[in-house]
Amino acid sequence: MREAIAILDFGSQYTQLIARRVREANVYCEIFPWDAPVEKVLALAPKAYILSGGPNSVYDDGAPTLPKYVLDARVPVLGICYGMQLLAYNLGGKVAPSQHREYGPANLEISDAGAALFSNLQLLTSNLQVWMSHGDRLDAPPPGWHVIARSTNSPIAAMADPERQLYGIQFHPEVKHTPQGTTIIRNFLFEVAKCDPSWTPDSFIEESIAQIRARVGGDQVICGLSGGVDSSVAAALIHRAIGDQLTCIFIDTGMLRKDEPEQVVETFQQHLGIRLVAVNAVEEYLSALDGVIDPEEKRKIIGEKFIRLFEREANAIKLSGIAPKFLAQGTLYPDVIESRGPERQAAAKIKTHHNVGGLPKDMQFELIEPLRFLFKDEARTIGTALGLPDAIVWRQPFPGPGLAVRIIGDITWERLQTLRLADAIVREEIDRAGLSRAIGQSFAVLTPIRSVGVMGDGRTYGNVVAVRAVTTEDFMTADWARLPYDVLAKISSRIVNEVADVNRVVYDISSKPPATIEWE
Ligand code: XMP
Repeated sequence: MREAIAILDFGSQYTQLIARRVREANVYCEIFPWDAPVEKVLALAPKAYILSGGPNSVYDDGAPTLPKYVLDARVPVLGICYGMQLLAYNLGGKVAPSQHREYGPANLEISDAGAALFSNLQLLTSNLQVWMSHGDRLDAPPPGWHVIARSTNSPIAAMADPERQLYGIQFHPEVKHTPQGTTIIRNFLFEVAKCDPSWTPDSFIEESIAQIRARVGGDQVICGLSGGVDSSVAAALIHRAIGDQLTCIFIDTGMLRKDEPEQVVETFQQHLGIRLVAVNAVEEYLSALDGVIDPEEKRKIIGEKFIRLFEREANAIKLSGIAPKFLAQGTLYPDVIESRGPERQAAAKIKTHHNVGGLPKDMQFELIEPLRFLFKDEARTIGTALGLPDAIVWRQPFPGPGLAVRIIGDITWERLQTLRLADAIVREEIDRAGLSRAIGQSFAVLTPIRSVGVMGDGRTYGNVVAVRAVTTEDFMTADWARLPYDVLAKISSRIVNEVADVNRVVYDISSKPPATIEWE
């Protein structure tokens, strides 16, 4: 059985970061809500536990508690912030409501440089810069523990019971503002828990292939392919496991970017040899969207049509003699974690999201989601290891409704072509400037505005194209990208020269919030 760390989530905004740091050290881990059913956690046979921070005080009514199985397991435990306070509270230490909230950078004064957690640090003095974010503090460690570091506001900023391999730290080693935090986490994994850094892309692929084969047996799998990273990597991985038992369905809605449908067919059918049904639904989409200008209406039509077409194609596959039992989806770990919380439902109210994975639950298939424990960048690494081209592995997110929500107003084939050309120029120039990986998303929007211009000696009355480029960590918030003026100039002059009927280019300088990334 593979070695794994269980991270118990007590509600910290940084829990996912803890998981990232552990995985970056090539150790597999999973996040569980603190009140997850015990069998679920124990099924992982955790080699150690990490307890996250959280917004509560251990004295709050209904505050999350430390599940009994954690200490019963007699394996190493690292409590971070609230996690440390829980350990102290349960083992007889003294947690006191603090007079001062400590938030931001702090100086850690290490009093036991020999502590395993503090091995391999690069220290000039006994001080270490760390990031704090807590209200309560610890006044006395539990019996048998000793203090290994303090800070101005936390007389016990780190403590240890090396005998039982229990550790608590008040600061957050998982955030970048604790520059040597990664070393501290690695120390816990390797010096304390004696983990083996063996969780690599190759081992993941090998393990997934075995699991997929065992689950699918001789049955058939279908997969809706969009050309995006998630569904592409999922399809490539499943194909590696079961070859022609996988059939992918790709629907060309007409709302895709320049050359995209051809690239998807070429990559999957020709390059990877995946059995692919490519459906040209362009006319159907254009007539369904004819005269529709309301953004929500567009989204609704596109989402529903996709489901109907997908069902139709799946039935056609059935009629051809293949009876698919499984539906493959490219669900990633953040979706799995976030769908447990209420935030997603709140976010969904702003726009009705449609994506290729969003098929109704009542379809008669069992779901197969080989990436459900991976973060996006891990999925990318796996994609590269499976031989997918950079154009797919590093593709920026692209909304399910596609260009339909980037044409403001009426959608016609001509306007789609205009937008495709302008959009290709934006992406080409950003790529040429070496900025595409630094920019979260960059694209063109076709506005419904016409404006007067002059070309040669003549008057023009043409379209206005808006350029949108944002930097973002998580697409929940975003800042407009400070693109170099030279890049903007090149984009603008190429668009007005190369795209017929466009005589003006504007740059969108709104951040999210209050704007959203897409215009509709
Ligand atoms: P907004 O416009 O809400 O977009 O700031 C946030 C991120 O979500 C993408 N987006 C979508 N993705 N289906 C998707 O799969 C959709 O319907 C959809 N709408 C927006 C958007 O491109 C950005 O990355």
